[in-house]
Amino acid sequence: MSLPPFVNEPVLELRRAAERRRLTDALDALQLPLRVPVWIDDERRKGDELISTDPGAPERVVALAARATQAEAAAAVATAKRGFARWSAVPAGERAAALLRAAAWMRERRAELAALALRECAKPWADADADVCEAIDFLEFYARGAIELDARPTLLQPPGERNELRYVARGVCAVIAPWNFPLAIPMGMAAAALATGNSVVLKPAEQAPGCGLRIVEALRVGGVALDAIALLPGEGDAGAALARDPDVATIAFTGSSAVGLELLRTAAEVAPGARQLKRVVAEMGGKNCIIVDADADLDEAVPAIVDSAFGYAGQKCSAASRALVHESIHDLLVERLTGAVQGLQIGPADDFATDVPPLIERDARDRVRRYAELAAREGTPAVGARDVPQDGWYCAPVLATGLPHDSELLRDEIFGPLLAVEAVRDVDEACDRVDALPVALTGGLFSRNPRTVDHVVARSPVGNLYVNRAITGAMVGRQPFGGNRLSGTGTKAGGHDYLLQFVEPRVVTENTVRHGLVV
Ligand SMILES: NC(=O)c1ccc[n+]([C@@H]2O[C@H](COP(=O)([O-])OP(=O)(O)OC[C@H]3O[C@@H](n4cnc5c(N)ncnc54)[C@H](O)[C@@H]3O)[C@@H](O)[C@H]2O)c1
Repeated sequence: MSLPPFVNEPVLELRRAAERRRLTDALDALQLPLRVPVWIDDERRKGDELISTDPGAPERVVALAARATQAEAAAAVATAKRGFARWSAVPAGERAAALLRAAAWMRERRAELAALALRECAKPWADADADVCEAIDFLEFYARGAIELDARPTLLQPPGERNELRYVARGVCAVIAPWNFPLAIPMGMAAAALATGNSVVLKPAEQAPGCGLRIVEALRVGGVALDAIALLPGEGDAGAALARDPDVATIAFTGSSAVGLELLRTAAEVAPGARQLKRVVAEMGGKNCIIVDADADLDEAVPAIVDSAFGYAGQKCSAASRALVHESIHDLLVERLTGAVQGLQIGPADDFATDVPPLIERDARDRVRRYAELAAREGTPAVGARDVPQDGWYCAPVLATGLPHDSELLRDEIFGPLLAVEAVRDVDEACDRVDALPVALTGGLFSRNPRTVDHVVARSPVGNLYVNRAITGAMVGRQPFGGNRLSGTGTKAGGHDYLLQFVEPRVVTENTVRHGLVV
């Protein structure tokens, strides 16, 4: 099977009135609440124990989902184990074709899917549209990657010996997903596992079961066998049950460091009678810093920093959390950032003018408010309290300066619209502060000096470093994404190596100088 080269799905041009209308029409047409079942093979168990609501209007119910029990988690794995035997035997080209049909299904419904992500997770239009595009990109990219992986790599073949290396699927993959990219991230992990011949049990985030349903629909309509993909809506206990199950070979997880580390511990326990080591693909949290040197172009740096820190209310894993600024321009940059942050529009996700939407849920809003209060007590908030809409989980953007070195605000992943700005003597002091962190997801640098750029690149431990641009918005195939240190197991979603996490290599060596053939 030969496919045209991969290209990223183009995002919508939202300056065009017709595109905006297409999206708002899709939002008006959304029939809510969605009913999300536990969906194993062709069995659907409906329920309403899990309720996902619109973060901007919490009285609006977006999805009523069944909450998977431990027994259902076990049943989903048992079915996926049976499904694995068949799905792994399907030729790579046919598996890829199923993923491409799933991508086409999503493309046809991209306005409706963006509207759902907007309602369920308060993703503003541009972010919601980008989320759909990224999900499509993962399907297209991993479909091609699986075909490439299947084309046997060439080993040395001395006379009289034939050597062959094959990559084979590992087994059942538990996909445990976060809510902040409710379509792209679960689809990415599921698509990678399925493309390489594994079967999947998808546990979407409890905040986004409606998006989880659409992912499984897309894959099944595309042609993934019913017993090769199950939907298991639920909370953390459902994810934990999947991770413990001895028949789960791979855990593909994206979420907080606390949960990811727990999953790594669970996987390290080899259950009695287990015949396989569990592998964990974990993409976790960060504490992302942008270094701004004295020679930075502030006309570029200010909007990029504001976008990185406050876009989607700071709820992207790649979002900027600290700005480490050369002391000679610190006050000027704070003044300019203050003006920019004061100008941000806080509002509902469906308003095209919104910069800062509500946070995902009440707990998140309360947590970020506590950090904002701490910023006011410990430092000098350059931008602080401000009126926000009452209905919904809104939080005003905060710019905190003058924090003590040991402040929790400089250590914890806040996951909200709060940026700490610190003065540093020079770029090396900034690098030291970045290096002192146990996490290393994304980072940024603003400098006009190529030698400074090279120096910071050499010293930077992060998985994704962005120079003279915003630090969010990684694109499949262009910026393979994932963190180092405690931010992740070092895999790169949307990169060429990613699929290797989902397969095991097998080498066959045959002595071909045998004495005669038995035919
Ligand atoms: N590195 C990345 O690529 C990346 C991308 C997106 C989000 N994130 C991180 O995700 C976090 C935000 O997402 P979240 O709030 O959904 O994370 P979370 O860790 O709370 O939840 C993620 C998933 O894990 C499940 N879960 C919770 N407890 C569990 C347990 N004990 N065992 C198994 N599963 C369990 C949840 O139900 C959910 O499906 C942030 O820390 C962010 O940095 C990282």
